[in-house]
Amino acid sequence: MKVLVTRRLPERVMAYLEERADVTCAAEDRGLTREELIAGLQGKDALLCLLTDKIDAEVMDANPYLRVIANYAVGYNNIDIEAATARGITVTNTPDVLTAATADMAWALLMAVSRRIVEGDTLVRSGGWTGWAPLQLIGGDVTGATLGLVGLGRIGRAMMRRAQGFDMDILYWNRTRLAAEEEAELGIRYGTLEEVMRTADYVSIHVAYTEQTHHLIGERELRSMKPGAYLINTARGAHIDEAALVRALREGWIAGAGLDVYEREPELASGLTKLENVVLAPHLGSATLQTREEMGMMAVRSILAVMDEERPDHVVNTGLYEQ
Ligand code: GLV
Ligand code: GLV
Repeated sequence: MKVLVTRRLPERVMAYLEERADVTCAAEDRGLTREELIAGLQGKDALLCLLTDKIDAEVMDANPYLRVIANYAVGYNNIDIEAATARGITVTNTPDVLTAATADMAWALLMAVSRRIVEGDTLVRSGGWTGWAPLQLIGGDVTGATLGLVGLGRIGRAMMRRAQGFDMDILYWNRTRLAAEEEAELGIRYGTLEEVMRTADYVSIHVAYTEQTHHLIGERELRSMKPGAYLINTARGAHIDEAALVRALREGWIAGAGLDVYEREPELASGLTKLENVVLAPHLGSATLQTREEMGMMAVRSILAVMDEERPDHVVNTGLYEQ
């Protein structure tokens, strides 16, 4: 079996795969160009790719033998799923194993922006800190505040549990509402997206990115937030109209934002880096060694399953297996 891995993964993962397949992977640690991707795919049975690789119909058609695309991510908006299904190619992702790490990151951003950790660090390093002062770098209250969860999937629920440790009130919006008993059991309340945006002190986004959630948070939603509220995004950048967010942060419609993802990574909306009330992380949600290893092992197991004519554990285009 021949596998193309588009960029080197943790050693344990590469070793596991290399024992079981003929692996091609660029020696250089950088993303492949489209031409390199298409050339590299020739004659391969499987592709292990990243969220930064755009896998569309043209890429798939470059190799009619391709049987499986294992995305090294939980999100799969980088892949044309319909095109893969039409060609009988299995697409898999890596859910569950990155839930805790991603929720930890969302929580870290929430704390960092509200307690102004990065601004404080910059001040101390600059040598400009003149000592304790009653009104210096006053931040937001976290304990007891209201958290608005936009999306209550695995990562949204993990964020909920972290917030409950801080006695936060939790309001959630989700495509499907939970049963009343489950809401009561979890101690959370449902609200429309409008209610969540209007009443939460912190809003954290945990929905999957689809055409329907493109710019879910635009100017109207940002203007409806409390002036003291914060917005956290560890999902996908294009959930938010980033240019509108820059205006919201600059003009004080909201107090701040903590971002791990951007609309056009690694490019940022103009003006974003000039603002002090935003903490900017470079898409680190799943960036712990254990998580990245587990994601890799999961992707490799998916590829091996397809090669063994078995159904992998985490298929995205499940329809392929239900005919
Ligand atoms: C990361 O963004 C992922 O989707 O895994
Ligand atoms: C992602 O949204 C997940 O539910 O893991």
